[in-house]
Parts: sequence; structure tokens; C-alpha cells
Amino acid sequence: MFIDLKLTDMVHEILKGKIREGDTVVDATVGNGNDTLFLARAVGKTGKVIGFDIQKKALHQTQNKLIQEALADRVLLIHDSHSNMDQYIKEPIHGAMFNLGYLPQGDKNIITKADTTIEALKKVCSLLLTGAFITIISYWGHQGGLEEKEAVEDFLTKLEAKKYICAKFNYLNREGCPPIIYFLQRL
Ligand SMILES: C[S@@+](CC[C@H](N)C(=O)[O-])C[C@H]1O[C@@H](n2cnc3c(N)ncnc32)[C@H](O)[C@@H]1O
Repeated sequence: MFIDLKLTDMVHEILKGKIREGDTVVDATVGNGNDTLFLARAVGKTGKVIGFDIQKKALHQTQNKLIQEALADRVLLIHDSHSNMDQYIKEPIHGAMFNLGYLPQGDKNIITKADTTIEALKKVCSLLLTGAFITIISYWGHQGGLEEKEAVEDFLTKLEAKKYICAKFNYLNREGCPPIIYFLQRL
């Protein structure tokens, strides 16, 4: 793994060593399904992925990809906001991925928002097993993106250090608003 990778690939590389066969994990922002498919492969036949998106079309396309790859039986796709995840998930989880912003090649007006993202993060933190992870990729160049990035950073910064390790990866010499990865691990 090195830093010339796409951020999404970098996160996958890091998580490959972390997710085990049989794990239960959450994809909080399914979108085009790249992370869902990655997670479905990583948890193996005995594992489970629970995915959320507010766009039916994204879930439909992802479901088709999962069927093509014979991975659909280990994935539950839910058409609802990740901020309602407590209504669907009653078991402890091994990890969760958030890929914030809008769907590439999709409707740029449908974006993750600070309030629902923080609500989801609070809920997902309460589900984490010891050693479990959260990864968050923040794209923040769009309208509302800065507010969301600041809310995420504020939330992670204030988490109790005895219970969570929180870290961030950001580019220092890229113009504009380069994406940021946040990592969290439950101790
Ligand atoms: C950057 S895309 C995700 C990319 C995706 N992980 C992939 O691998 O293609 C962000 C997605 O978050 C979804 N989204 C926005 N608000 C949401 C919410 N409150 N709950 C769940 N998903 C949401 C959008 O519909 C969009 O598909």
C-alpha cells in the first residue's frame, strides 16, 4: 500500500487486513456499490453486510452487481437514511464505511449532510465491538461539504480517547479541497 492509490483503494487495502470471514459490517453510503462489493467479498460466505442509501436507483444497481458476482446472499440493502440504522441493526458490528458526498455520475443535489451523518456516526459507534473500525472518506468541495467535514472532525475529536482511536489522512500539497480519510477504532 502506498499513497499514490485512489483514496477508495487505499481504504480497501487497509481494511483487507482488518475484516475477517464471518464479520458483520455496514456500508453507510452504498452509492455505486464499490464498497459494498468489497465488503461482501471480505466477510466471506458466513459474513454479513448491511448497506444503506436514500437513492433507490443506487441500491437497485448495486443489487444487480451483487447478483452478477454471486454475493447477494450475504448483503442486506436498506432504502433509508443511515441515521435510522438503529431501527434495522440490533447486533454488534465489526466495522462500518462511510463514503460521504454525492454519487459520482449521479444527482449532485443528493448529498450526505452534517446532521444525518453525525446522527449515523453516533449510532454506529454504539454498535461497535472491541477492535471494530469506522472509515470515513470526506469529499467536501461541494455546497454543505465544509460544514459536514467540520462536524465529522468535531465529533471524532471529542470522542473519549480511552474508548476510541481517531486519526485522519489528508493531502498537504493538493490544490482545492482534496478528500480526507478519517479512521476510527473502538478500543
Ligand atoms: C459518495 S457516494 C457513495 C459511493 C459508494 N460508497 C460507492 O462505492 O460507490 C454517497 C452516497 O451517499 C448516499 N446518501 C446521501 N445521504 C444519505 C443518507 N442520509 N443515508 C444513506 N445514504 C445517503 C447518496 O445517495 C450517495 O449514493
